[in-house]
Amino acid sequence: MVQVARALKVEVVTPAPKGSTSGNRHTAQRYVRILRDLGCAASVVERWIDTPCDLLVALHAKKSAGSIAKFARVHPLAPLVVVLTGTDLYEDLEPSAEVVRSLDLATRIIVLQPSALLRLRPEWAAKTHVILQAAERVNGTAEPLVGVFEVAVLGHLRGVKDPFLPAEAVRSLPIESKLRVSHVGAVIDRGMEDRARQESAENPRWRWLGERSHKAALHVLARAEAFLQTSLNEGGSIALAEAIVAGKPILATRIAGAVGMLGADHPGLFPAGDAAALGRLLARLEQDAEWRAELAACSTALAPRFSLAAETAAWSALLADLGLLGERPRVRLTQVGSAEQVHDFAAAVREGLCATPKRLPCRFFYDETGSKLFEEICSLPEYYLTRAEDEILTARSSEILALVPSGSEIVELGSGSAEKSRHLIAAAIARDSRARYTPIDISRSALESSARALTARFPSLHVHAIAAEYHAGLARSASPGRGPRLYVWLGSNVGNFDRTEAAAFLSGLCAHMGLEDRLVIGIDRRKSKAVLEPAYADAAGVTARFNLNLLARLAATFHCAIDLAQFEHVAFYDEIEGRIEMHLESRVEQVIDIPELELQVALMKGERIHTENSYKYSDDEMRELARAAGMRVQREFHDSGEQFTLAVFAPC
Ligand code: AVI
Repeated sequence: MVQVARALKVEVVTPAPKGSTSGNRHTAQRYVRILRDLGCAASVVERWIDTPCDLLVALHAKKSAGSIAKFARVHPLAPLVVVLTGTDLYEDLEPSAEVVRSLDLATRIIVLQPSALLRLRPEWAAKTHVILQAAERVNGTAEPLVGVFEVAVLGHLRGVKDPFLPAEAVRSLPIESKLRVSHVGAVIDRGMEDRARQESAENPRWRWLGERSHKAALHVLARAEAFLQTSLNEGGSIALAEAIVAGKPILATRIAGAVGMLGADHPGLFPAGDAAALGRLLARLEQDAEWRAELAACSTALAPRFSLAAETAAWSALLADLGLLGERPRVRLTQVGSAEQVHDFAAAVREGLCATPKRLPCRFFYDETGSKLFEEICSLPEYYLTRAEDEILTARSSEILALVPSGSEIVELGSGSAEKSRHLIAAAIARDSRARYTPIDISRSALESSARALTARFPSLHVHAIAAEYHAGLARSASPGRGPRLYVWLGSNVGNFDRTEAAAFLSGLCAHMGLEDRLVIGIDRRKSKAVLEPAYADAAGVTARFNLNLLARLAATFHCAIDLAQFEHVAFYDEIEGRIEMHLESRVEQVIDIPELELQVALMKGERIHTENSYKYSDDEMRELARAAGMRVQREFHDSGEQFTLAVFAPC
């Protein structure tokens, strides 16, 4: 059996307390045994409280919602498996915001029988594994009760189990019938105890045996002629699985949970809540030995699916899918330098707002709000860049990957949400399923969420995310003896450097590159003002908010007041320089007071703070850029509108 490489620490959360006879407790304990067999250090807990843990398995999407949300918050990159055990699947699923949130947060979902998949939204079903529960086989033989045709029901007394349906059904049996239903289970719905006692006393064909140990319950099952389940809903009943592996004839309600385990054509199914139909089946069960044998044969044929070996193999497949079987953890995140960048920002504000003309560097646009606004910009009708580049990547990613050796690591600068590079990653995986992706980005939160999304989408992908500025990130990603790499710098990010800085930066990158390495770079082409200016001054005002957010970030970071309404977003194209310039223009004469930086910035009416340049490249300028960086243009691709270039640079 393939085992996890090191003792992976797994916590299995169950809402059922220690000592409880609830199915969830048994399931959690069995999962722990299976995970230990697979080499994990696993334990059962009632809730997750910040203990170190490589994988959390949470039973019940609603009752364990607190643990699920907390774990996802504290360990956003760690795998989280949510098991839909029963009521969370059938009673709570859509109405409960907690269940929806738990399923959204889950890296993988487990359901206990296949028909449960039909209840799930497509995005949930796509990350779901069906793991049938292994049932314990009864040891030894048990003598049947003398003079009684006993039918066993194993289940707690609660509404959803419809426990008194058999008591009603047996009333229609013929006088000579020796059939007796024996019901084992604890009272969960309080009012049911009196009824159970009364029914047991008055109805000779129905008896409540009370709560029994698991072993004793299995003994009743072993001696019975058949097993009956009357539930209105079941997630994936362990009692039903036990009856299957015991080879018993089974009668069960035609509900999704039973159909998923027994098959829709099982001869012993009857409509839920229908006492008359159940009465007819019970009569036939007692009278028709051939039919009983047919039902028993159905169980025997299904039994191997509910073996411990089958359940362990299914768990092993799930761990492999999560990338937990094998050499390396699948997702790593390295932070280089300060997460906050506060000192850096303070220095830039001091320097930039005291300069003439005033300026602030565009790299500070991307706090959480700024990153969200930028995502919004990317889908604006006027901002053609993202769509044009995506069109090229959709069509050409395999061709681009063919320019580097199979197994090359993809190292992306400024990966953001990693949406841009998904086609390249898919093409890399198509060549080698163990593809490696190293995104470098200043935003840790963007890296965390993109790594989760990517590993959910590409289960075999290995991600080493580096939260850092470009230079520091590249230095950290360098390792002696590494294999070939495809460096990726998309989205016209190069355009936010001036031409000399861009060449200097790329020549630094070139110094990192081996002869087989390549750089895929997305470059916006020079074009008319009429197309360019609306792309940076959209009708919906999203780019204006993106620009103004820089001042909002400044005010929030250094705890000062800035009235954003007194600034205007300005964007224009300078044809000679071949660049879009963005500015924030003061509508009035004003002073920005930043006591924390001991700074007072006086602005005249109409004075501007220069916040961004976005350079556009002619084909010649692009070639000159490559040359100045010590590289050559190996291939270049354009979109159908000829607006954007995706070039592959190779070191000379
Ligand atoms: C990230 N960068 C390439 C964008 C650009 O087009 O220069 C940033 C941007 N600024 C305004 N809109 C988009």
